[in-house]
Amino acid sequence: MAEDLTITKGSKHEQYLALIPQIKSLLDGEPDLIANLANIAAALKEQFGWFWIGFYLVKNDQLVLGPFQGPVACTRIAKGRGVCGTSWAEAKTLIVPDVEKFPGHIACSSLSKSEIVIPLFHNEQVVGVLDVDSSELDSFNTTDQLYLEQIVQLIQWD
Ligand code: SME
Repeated sequence: MAEDLTITKGSKHEQYLALIPQIKSLLDGEPDLIANLANIAAALKEQFGWFWIGFYLVKNDQLVLGPFQGPVACTRIAKGRGVCGTSWAEAKTLIVPDVEKFPGHIACSSLSKSEIVIPLFHNEQVVGVLDVDSSELDSFNTTDQLYLEQIVQLIQWD
C-alpha cells in the first residue's frame, strides 16, 4: 500500500484521474470501513484542500458523524434535514452553489459557502453520505459529482 499521496496540479479532471488510482491502492486489501473512510477523506483533503470533507453514516435512522477532515462538525442530522439529510432522503447527489440559498441548510460553520453531498449506497439503500464543503461559492460541478460518485463506489461495506 502506498502511504504517500502524490499531489497533482491541473484541471479537476486531471486531479481526480491521478487521485483515484491512489485511493484504490490505499483501500486495496483493507477491509476496515472506518480506516478506509478516514483515508478517503484525508486523500481528498490533501489533493483539493477543501474546507471540510467527511462522512456521515446512517445509524438508528439518523446520520451520525464519521471520519472527516476539517473543523469540528454537527454530530447528528435527521433524515430530510439540511443538505446531507436531503441527499439521504432523495437518494441523490446534491450540488449547492450557495448554501445560504438552500432552505434548511445546517451551518456547522459560517465559513462554508458551497457544498456537494453524495449518497453512499449498499444493497440499494442509502447507508451514509460523503459531504464536501468549500469556503468559496460555487466550488462544485458535475465533474466533482462524476468522480466523487466513482470514489464512494470503491467503499467495501461487507
Ligand atoms: N451543511 C451540512 C451539515 C454538515 S456540515 O456542513 C459538516 C448540511 O446542511 O447538511
